[in-house]
Amino acid sequence: MKSETDSERLARIRSTVEQHGQSHLLAHWDTLNSQQRGELLDDIEQVNFAALGHLIESHVRQEQAFALPTSIQPAPCYPAVPGIDLIGRYADAVKRGVSLIRKNKVAAFTVAGGQGTRLGFDGPKGAFPISPVRNKTLFALFAEFILGTNRRYGSDLRWYIMTSPQNDAATRAFFREQAYFGLKPERVRFFPQGVMPAFAADGRILLDQKHRIAFSPDGHGGSLLALRHSGALAEMANEGIEHVSYIQVDNPLVKLIDPLFIGLHDLTGSEMSSKMIPKADDLERVGNFVVGDGRTMVIEYSDLPDELAHARDGAGGRRFDAGSIAIHVLSRAFVERLTADEALFALPWHRAVKKVPYVDEAGIRRESQTPNAVKLEAFIFDAIPHAENPLILETTRAEEFSPVKNATGVDSEETSRRDMNRRAARWLDAAGFGVPWRADGEPDGLFEISPRLALDAAHLREVMLRPPAIQRGREHYWE
Ligand code: UTP
Repeated sequence: MKSETDSERLARIRSTVEQHGQSHLLAHWDTLNSQQRGELLDDIEQVNFAALGHLIESHVRQEQAFALPTSIQPAPCYPAVPGIDLIGRYADAVKRGVSLIRKNKVAAFTVAGGQGTRLGFDGPKGAFPISPVRNKTLFALFAEFILGTNRRYGSDLRWYIMTSPQNDAATRAFFREQAYFGLKPERVRFFPQGVMPAFAADGRILLDQKHRIAFSPDGHGGSLLALRHSGALAEMANEGIEHVSYIQVDNPLVKLIDPLFIGLHDLTGSEMSSKMIPKADDLERVGNFVVGDGRTMVIEYSDLPDELAHARDGAGGRRFDAGSIAIHVLSRAFVERLTADEALFALPWHRAVKKVPYVDEAGIRRESQTPNAVKLEAFIFDAIPHAENPLILETTRAEEFSPVKNATGVDSEETSRRDMNRRAARWLDAAGFGVPWRADGEPDGLFEISPRLALDAAHLREVMLRPPAIQRGREHYWE
């Protein structure tokens, strides 16, 4: 086939953008040098204009109201602590989970493609230092969790990390600089997620520079297609990996690999499982697990009607109490099934209005003082209604959830460090090594236990044989 000349390519692309009302993308063409022209055409070719046309109408030019299910019931959850009826089942689940881990039939998966705008850290969020004594980064803590798991169970787990085109190189460089934190590089695999352009309210795609489209990552829901496109899914199938343990990069307390959770998921034939915590208050800004018209799903806090958020059950408890914390196990076969036919696969798009720098008609780059752009993202939890036998397991906030989202205040570096410190102190207490506590309820000192040493309180009791030296107000670290 005769290859296209540069001018034929330009003519073809010009006709496409004109046809879709996006001809402004080429408005600054005459001012670009040849390299910039090439980059702009590459960017434009990444956009699926045919698919976008409809989306711009339905989600950019207008806000699509969330379609509330007709019937909304609380979702059943497995409790954090099993009652007498479930003790045997939990013990079986732990055994099954451990056996799957030992055979490397589970892979760790971290989504780290977000832009972390609220935190405002210059670099991939996983490179953010967070541990109370050693200032270990989020990535370091997860790596050590995998090392600790491998040490405990004799496994050699794979770790998949989803980056974005914007932070992929920086993330890989960070791992190289840190010598992969002691992991074998060939067991760690990075792949970038897909992107979506940002739009002006009238549906025009924004330019970030005269020759670059303002792309941003397409949401953590983009991870499902990214798993397929990157070849990671095929690799998992080749290696006999059956389940993917999904976490987000910003929660240092998360149990990256949890035998109980994995085992329950497997034993119940769940295709997608989720962890939940009881909400801190009726209106906490977390998604709510519900059964809507017969399917398990997450309804965002902003979409849950107030009367449901405040509803009480017969015992006076919160009726919709299960908060989503973005910890999942997905069966590989489920991800394969969902993404097999891309034309049929679509998680719903969520619209957010944000501040995005843009190039104006005169070719000047502007930073808007107010939100000026519509971004569209897909969310991982929207896969749950597609799953058979979805399972929800309760966990405790203090043990497993303290994300770093904001620079200050709730869910910030400060609260996350505090919660890591408290958890380590509680584990030491539980292991019988009394930790001094201050009158204000905080541990008197800084405590950090590397996940390479212990993965939970019971594990610490097994491995810490002699009482550690603990001094009031001092820093303590064990590995
Ligand atoms: P958040 O929704 O907190 O977004 O992501 P964020 O981009 O990190 O931060 P803000 O909103 O800009 O402040 C939750 C998790 O999902 C990942 C993030 O890296 C984080 O682990 N994520 C988010 C992706 O991997 N890709 C995305 O497109 C969005």
